[in-house]
Amino acid sequence: MHNVADHQNKNKICLVTGAAGFIGSHLVRCLLGAGHRVTGIDSFTDYYDPKIKWNNIADLLQHPQFDLIEDDLIEALESLPQAVNWVFHQAAQAGVRASWGKEFEIYTRQNILATQRLLEWARMNKPERFVYASSSSVYGDVEKLPMHEDDALKPLSPYGVSKLAAENLCTLYYKNFAVPTVSLRYFTVYGPGQRPDMAFSRFIRAILTEGELVIYGSGDQTRDFTYVNDIVSANLAAASRPQAVGRVYNLGGGSRISVNEVLSILADLTGRPVKVKYGDVQEGDPLHTFADTTRAKDELGFCPQIEIEEGLKLMCESMQSRAER
Ligand code: UGA
Repeated sequence: MHNVADHQNKNKICLVTGAAGFIGSHLVRCLLGAGHRVTGIDSFTDYYDPKIKWNNIADLLQHPQFDLIEDDLIEALESLPQAVNWVFHQAAQAGVRASWGKEFEIYTRQNILATQRLLEWARMNKPERFVYASSSSVYGDVEKLPMHEDDALKPLSPYGVSKLAAENLCTLYYKNFAVPTVSLRYFTVYGPGQRPDMAFSRFIRAILTEGELVIYGSGDQTRDFTYVNDIVSANLAAASRPQAVGRVYNLGGGSRISVNEVLSILADLTGRPVKVKYGDVQEGDPLHTFADTTRAKDELGFCPQIEIEEGLKLMCESMQSRAER
């Protein structure tokens, strides 16, 4: 997908927000591997244990082409490098189900306000590209599947509302000030290092420790799960392809399966018993997600490489070896 032979796309100066997070750290590693220079920023919030984030980037900290700013994005805008070619805005307060109640204040600040401030920064500093990590949660429950970029957007969770507001801000800054934004709607991303609050992480952890896992609802809900490396490749394409400017793309792995099917794959892969408890459906959770990725295929050359069985196997192996260490 990413044309490494293209000399114009070599040696870029990159800014990655949320650099120590699950997706951010994979992206930084890929950019450094491709010879780019990266400044990462991360505030190491305690939504989950910050030690996990330090672990995500432990191998990158000594890299001569990598600098890390450990600070809040809004507070640190003045200390960001000014000559940046590519911005990858991955930082966010994550979590669909945790975004109700008093916590929404954090979502408005970290997802909406921080994006608006970074767009203002981009307006002044004029990067070649500003890639925004949007989310399938902007859709809500749609009338027909698969979800298409031009469908009506009716998020079901405050988290989805905040991601959509930030996506709309990107489009506004593109239209009014020519900030070269691209929004990528990620569909439930998984792989080694997945956030510990997400389903696969929880399920595999429970199976490896012989604990009990909880399925919210019947387990018949489906997701278009997307392997993290495929998301990273799409970010590089979004940064380098001229036709991506001002566009919004779905990124789904094409492996839409139910939560119950996931558990049966995990049982086969691990050969261990799976202890399941069924809990309540969670407010804000869509029943199904499924991405129409035609636009990303046509314009970004998006072509997911890892199918669900293989991706789950890689994730199990990684969690097993981390547990042994
Ligand atoms: C994920 C991410 O957490 C969001 O940050 C992201 O924006 C979103 O994908 C997206 O696609 O936009 P989600 O689909 O809820 O959200 O991801 P998982 O935590 O992997 O949950 C998948 C399904 O498993 C959901 O239906 C959830 O209710 C269920 N689940 C989760 C359980 O049954 N048990 C659990 O312990 C956790």
